[in-house]
Amino acid sequence: MRSTSQFVADRCSSVEMSFPAVFSWDYDHQDDRLVRLYDKAKRSQWNAATDLDWSIDVDQSHLDAGLLAVLRDPPGSPFAHLTDGELAEIGWESQAWTVSQFLHGEQGALLATAKLVDAVPDEDAKLYAATQVMDEARHVEVYERYLSQKLDRSYPINPHLDSLLRDLLSDSRWDVTYLGMQIMVESLALAAFGFIYQTTNEPLLRDITAHVMADEARHVAFGIASLTGVYDQMDERERRDREEFVCEAAELMRDRFLQREVWERAGLPADECEAFVRDNPLQVQFRSLLFSKVVPNVKRIGLLTPYVRDRFERLGILEFESEPASA
Ligand SMILES: [Fe+2]
Ligand SMILES: [Fe+2]
Repeated sequence: MRSTSQFVADRCSSVEMSFPAVFSWDYDHQDDRLVRLYDKAKRSQWNAATDLDWSIDVDQSHLDAGLLAVLRDPPGSPFAHLTDGELAEIGWESQAWTVSQFLHGEQGALLATAKLVDAVPDEDAKLYAATQVMDEARHVEVYERYLSQKLDRSYPINPHLDSLLRDLLSDSRWDVTYLGMQIMVESLALAAFGFIYQTTNEPLLRDITAHVMADEARHVAFGIASLTGVYDQMDERERRDREEFVCEAAELMRDRFLQREVWERAGLPADECEAFVRDNPLQVQFRSLLFSKVVPNVKRIGLLTPYVRDRFERLGILEFESEPASA
């Protein structure tokens, strides 16, 4: 029989966390926005097992002609020699990779919001964060079930996403957990979910996405409500730390969408495929669109400073500054 430590080594990984768990003895409501969000969250709970039609038969074995052309037609494409069937197989892998990263990201959100319940000093935020813990558990449930029952394949966490989740969980400052999860990761997830909702023709994934997006919009609103004004009062050195964190998070998130693990599993030249995905104009446009909610939300909490603006400009994501934020 395997020991507990063996099980942990095989199936788990850990992040050292050190932060004060804070009691709040002030039960008076301080923030109407959080009270309203808490009330809305309680009314908006759904059941992943019964509110979705799991009887839908998912067939990922074909790709639409437009996507095939995007991959295969550009000059110098490393996919040019592949048949429709081989490309469709890669498309299935790519979908499994994407949903796997959603699953791992949702588990990160589960851990992060459980930490927020302990660490935030304000009672309204603790109560709201508790509802988000349940939301994230439901999201883990739904993506795990979709992967195991409908796609029948999965991928480990992408190293860039892993690094970001570890950074935001191990930081002892409660606002950095908010900043990393509620603003950066969830704003980007909301854009990615929106893209999938608009483009997928798979009815179960579309319905899952609609349910998850409704929760995530609330989560981002929670982050904005909690962080508005916090950075205006911070001294310059402390604020610069947050600016650095936001820029590094944006770089990690941009690089996680190159799908190297998919090319490796398919036996394709991974460096070549990664370079193609990095430089292909449509892929560049897709990745920058993922930041269309990150940038306005960073601005709303007062962190789109000249320093961050300059770094975002070099990342090619500043164009979204004036987009309406989701909240
Ligand atoms: Fe989530
Ligand atoms: Fe979330």
